[in-house]
Amino acid sequence: MTAASAPDASTNPDLFQARLAQIAGEVEGEIRRALSSAPLPLEITRPDRLLEAMRHGTLNGGKRLRPYLVVACADMLDPDFARQNRAGLIRAATALELVHCYSLVHDDLPSMDDDDLRRGQPTVHKAFDEATAILAGDALLTMAFDLLADPATSADAQVRLDLITGLARAAGAGGMVGGQMLDLAAEGRHSPDQAQLQLSEQQIRQLQSMKTGALLRFACEAGAIYVRSAPDVRSKMALFGQIIGQAFQIADDLIDVESAPATAGKATGKDAAKGKATLVSLKGIAEARAELDRLTAKAEDCLAELGRDGHELRTVARFIATRAF
Ligand code: IPE
Ligand code: IPE
Ligand code: MG
Ligand code: MG
Ligand code: MG
Repeated sequence: MTAASAPDASTNPDLFQARLAQIAGEVEGEIRRALSSAPLPLEITRPDRLLEAMRHGTLNGGKRLRPYLVVACADMLDPDFARQNRAGLIRAATALELVHCYSLVHDDLPSMDDDDLRRGQPTVHKAFDEATAILAGDALLTMAFDLLADPATSADAQVRLDLITGLARAAGAGGMVGGQMLDLAAEGRHSPDQAQLQLSEQQIRQLQSMKTGALLRFACEAGAIYVRSAPDVRSKMALFGQIIGQAFQIADDLIDVESAPATAGKATGKDAAKGKATLVSLKGIAEARAELDRLTAKAEDCLAELGRDGHELRTVARFIATRAF
C-alpha cells in the first residue's frame, strides 16, 4: 500500500464511535442505578414525580461526551489502573454527566433559553412542569456530589476530594453557572433599555470558556485526577480539555445556524434572534470554521506534548470540530 492510500492512522472514527457507545451504555446503567426509587441511607423518601423528571432529563439519548472524556483520558494516562478500577471510573464519569444534564434542564427553562425540544424529546419543563424541572435539576446536581463522595468511586480520599473540588469550581459561580449568567446578561436582559450588549471577542471567549468550556476542561482533568497523574500531566490534560471545550461551543453555535432541528435534536436558528453573544455572530461562519481548525491543531499539539498514544483523543478533537449534532 502506498503512503497516499494508507488510512490516517492518527485517528480512528469507528473505534471512537464504538468506545463512545460502550461508555454511554455503562454511564446510563450507572444513572439508572443512581435514580432507583429506593432511598439511600440518611434519605427519607424519593418522590416518584421527581425521579421521573430526573430520568427524563438524563436517560434521553445525550452524546455522553463528558463521561467519555473522563474515561478516555484516564485510559490514555494509565490503562492498567483505569481497567482495574473501571466501575469507580464510570461513577466519576457519571457524576459529570449528571451535572451536564442538570445544566441542560435549567438552560431550557422558560426563564432561560425557553426551549421545548432537547435530545429530540420535549424538555423536562414541557413533559412535567417548570417547578418540577427546577427541582429535578437541583437534585441531579446534588446527586453528582453524592456519587463522587462515595468510596465506591475511588478508594483514595484525596482523589475524591480533588474530584469534588474540581467539579464544584467547574460547575459553579466562577464556571458553568457564572458563564450562564454572562450569556443571559449579553442578551441585554439587565440593561435598562433591554438592548443587546456588544461583547468583545475576548468577552465572548471568556463567557464560552465558562458556560461550556469549564465542564469539558474538568472532564479531561478528572481522568488525570482519577489515575493520580503528576501535576504537570494533570495540567496538560486540563489544557487539552480547555481547547476542545472552546471548539465545542463554537461548533454548537454553528449547529444553531446551520443544522436542522431533526439533526440537532433541539431547536435551531434561535441564537441570533435572542441576541446570544457568539463568535459566529461576531466573526461569521467562515472565521468560526477557521478557528475550529486552529483549535483542532492546538489540541493535537497538546496531545503530542504528552507523549502518549493519543489517537483516540485526536479523533475526539476532530469529531468535536466537525460534529453536526
Ligand atoms: C449541549 O451539549 C449544550 C452545550 C454545552 C453546548 P451537548 O451537545 O454535549 O449535548 P448532549 O449531552 O449531547 O445532548
Ligand atoms: C448551553 O449553551 C450551555 C449550558 C447548558 C451550560 P446553549 O444554550 O448554547 O446550549 P443549547 O444550544 O441549548 O444546547
Ligand atoms: Mg443557553
Ligand atoms: Mg440553550
Ligand atoms: Mg446552543
